[in-house]
Amino acid sequence: MTLPALTTARLRLRQLAEADRDAVVKVFSDPEMSRFFAADFSDPAAASAMVDRRLEYRGPAGQGHWVIERDGDVIGVAHLRPSWELPGGVAELGYYVATPHAGQGLATEAAQAVLDHGFGALGLPAIWALVHERNAASRKVAAHLGFLDVGSGVHYGDLHRVLVAQAPVHGRPHHIELWVPDLAEAERSWGWLLGELGWREFQRWPAGVSWRRGGTYVVVEESPALSAREHERTRPGLNHLALQVATRAEVDDLAARAGEHGWRPLFADRYPHAGGDAHYAAYLENEAGFEVELVAAEGPAGR
Ligand SMILES: CC(C)(COP(=O)(O)OP(=O)(O)OC[C@H]1O[C@@H](n2cnc3c(N)ncnc32)[C@H](O)[C@@H]1OP(=O)(O)O)[C@@H](O)C(=O)NCCC(=O)NCCS
Repeated sequence: MTLPALTTARLRLRQLAEADRDAVVKVFSDPEMSRFFAADFSDPAAASAMVDRRLEYRGPAGQGHWVIERDGDVIGVAHLRPSWELPGGVAELGYYVATPHAGQGLATEAAQAVLDHGFGALGLPAIWALVHERNAASRKVAAHLGFLDVGSGVHYGDLHRVLVAQAPVHGRPHHIELWVPDLAEAERSWGWLLGELGWREFQRWPAGVSWRRGGTYVVVEESPALSAREHERTRPGLNHLALQVATRAEVDDLAARAGEHGWRPLFADRYPHAGGDAHYAAYLENEAGFEVELVAAEGPAGR
C-alpha cells in the first residue's frame, strides 16, 4: 500500500520504509521523546519494535505512517490510522519531532499536511487525537491545528485529552435550491425523504420551504419567475441529487417506503447495483421528474 508524499514549506513527509529504521530509532533516542508514553523508546530495541508495528500497518488506503524529512534528514514521524483506543475505527493523528528540531513549528507544519491529506484526498469527516494530559507542547500543536478538546479519558494507559478536528467548511455546499412546478407535491416527496434522513424544516414562505442538516440546507421553491412547468433532467443542468444513507438496510427500507410519498423507482431491474457492483444505491424519481440517489455510506462488509 503506497502513501502519497506530502510537501510543506520546510518539510517532506514520505511513507515510512524499512530503510528508515535507524533514523527513526535516532529520533526517539532522547528519553524526553517518550516522557508521556507507556514505553521508553530511547531503548533502541523498543524503538525498533515500534518501527516494526508501524511497518506492519494494513489499514485503509491513504492512511499509515510517514517519516518527516527536513533537508533530506529524517527528523520525525507522523501517522494517520484507525484508532486503537476510540470506537468505530475513527482516524487518529500522531506526530513526533526529534528534540533538536523542536520549538520551530515543525510538528504543527507536518501535522497540518496530514490533516489536509485526510480531509482533502481521503474525504474524512473528522480526525481525532489523544494527547497526554500533561503534554503541554502537543496540546499546543493540537490547538494550533484547530482541534477541539471534547473531554478526557484513560488511553494508552494514562489520562489523555480527547481531541477532534472536523473537516473544514471551506468549499462545502452551503445550500441547494430546487425550483419546482408544484410546491405541495415537492413538500410531499422531498419533505418526507429529507425528514427521514434527519433534515429539519428551516425556513418557510408562501412560495417555498427549506430543510437543514448540519451546515447545509435544501430549498424547494415554486418561484413566480419559473419559465417552464416541467423539469427535464436530461437537459443541461442538475441531473440528480445524491444523498448518503448510513446503512444498506436503511437504503432498502427507504426505497421500499418511498412509493407512498410520491417517489417511483428508477433502474429497478438493477437494484441495488445500478451504479456498479461496489455501489449500493436506490434511484428514485418524484412526480415532477426530479431524481434522487440514496447511497449506502457503509463499505461492503457492513457497519
Ligand atoms: C510535541 C511535539 C510533537 C512538538 O513538536 P514541535 O515541533 O516542537 O511543535 P511546534 O513547534 O509545532 O509547537 C509546539 C508548541 O508547544 C510549545 N511548547 C513547547 N514546549 C512546551 C512546554 N514544555 N510547555 C508549554 N508549551 C510548550 C511551543 O512554544 C509551541 O507553541 P507556540 O507555537 O505557540 O510557541 C514534540 O515535542 C515531540 O515529538 N514530543 C514527543 C512526542 C510527543 O509527545 N508527540 C505527541 C504525541 S500526541
